[in-house]
Amino acid sequence: MNTDLGFGLHSHQIVETARLLVANDKGLLAMDESTPTCDRRFAPLGIPQTEQARRAYRELIVTTPGLSEFISGAILYDETIRQKTTDGIPFPKVLSEAGILPGIKVDTGAKDMAGCPGEKITEGLDGLRDRLTEYYAMGARFAKWRAVITMGDCLPSRSCIEANAHALARYAALCQEAGLVPIVEPEVLMTGDHTLEQCSEATELLLRIVFIQLFKQGVMLEGMLLKPNMLVPGLTCTVQESVDEVADVTVRCLLRAVPAAVPGIAFLSGGQSCELASARLNAINFRYKGQLPWQIAFSFARAIQQPALEIWQGKVANVNAAQQALYHRARCNQAARRGDYTAAMDQ
Ligand code: 13P
Repeated sequence: MNTDLGFGLHSHQIVETARLLVANDKGLLAMDESTPTCDRRFAPLGIPQTEQARRAYRELIVTTPGLSEFISGAILYDETIRQKTTDGIPFPKVLSEAGILPGIKVDTGAKDMAGCPGEKITEGLDGLRDRLTEYYAMGARFAKWRAVITMGDCLPSRSCIEANAHALARYAALCQEAGLVPIVEPEVLMTGDHTLEQCSEATELLLRIVFIQLFKQGVMLEGMLLKPNMLVPGLTCTVQESVDEVADVTVRCLLRAVPAAVPGIAFLSGGQSCELASARLNAINFRYKGQLPWQIAFSFARAIQQPALEIWQGKVANVNAAQQALYHRARCNQAARRGDYTAAMDQ
C-alpha cells in the first residue's frame, strides 16, 4: 500500500499506530479532563480539588491491573503526562509498559466564539507544532482535539461549524507532521430538547465539512481516527428512540459522511449513562457486523470512569474496588465492540 502521502518517514508509523489503536476489539480510555473539568467531577463527591488528588486518581487509573486487555490507548492531559506514580515512574512509561499507548489532549479548550452567540470555538493552534514535538519526546503517539457544536434555535451556525472544522484539520495536519495520530473529535452536544433527526442533520453536515477540510489540508485519512458523538436525541427531548433506532441512524450518517479510508471510529460517551453507552455501541456492532468499512470502537471518559470515581471518593482504602469498577466498564465496552454486551453483564 502506498502510504507516503506527504508525511515521509512518519507515514507508515502513523498508519500502523492508528490501526493498532482500534485493533483486537479494544478501545481508548479518555482520562484527559482539563484541570477545571476534573475538579468539577471531584467536587460533588467531596474529593479535594488539588494537584495531589488529581495525581492520585490518575495513578489509580493507569495502574489498574489488566486494563490493557481492553484498552489500547489512554488520552492524558498536559498536567497528567508530566506526573509520576508514588514510586516515581512517569505515567506515560507506566502505560507503555502495560501495553497501552499514551496519547495527549492538545487543544486548550472551547471558548465563546465571537460573532456567534451561544457557540464555541476550540483554541490551541498557536505554538502547537512545538508542543507536539515535546509530547512526542515524552512518549505520546497520538493526540486529541475536541470541537463542540451546540444545538438550539437556529444553531449550529454554518460559521461555527466551518471555523471548528478548519481548526480540526490544521491540528490534524500538524499531528501527522510530528508523527502523532490525530484523533479528530467533532462533538454535537446532547444538551437540549432537539430531536434525533435534528442531531442527525447537524452531525452529518458537521462531518461532511470536517472531511472537506481534512482533504483540503492534506490530512492522511489512513493515519487518523474519528471520535464523533453517537446520534442521539437531546437530553430533554420528549421522544427518546430505542437503542436499535439510535444505532441505525448513527450508522446511516457515518456511511454518508465518513470516508472508508479512515481506519476507525471511536465514539465519545457525551454524558450518556455507562449502560446506555455500552448498549448503543453494542447495537451498532451487533447489527452491522462485517458490513462497515471502519472499526467501530469507543473513546469514553465518563462512561468508563464514573463508577470508579464514585467508589474511590479520594480514599486509599477504596483504590482496589475503584480499579475493579474501571476494569469492569472497560470489559463491558470490549464486549460491546464484539456485539456481545448484555445488560446482564451489569447486574
Ligand atoms: P466523554 O466520554 O465523557 O464524553 O468524554 C470523551 C472525551 O474525551 C471528551 O472530549
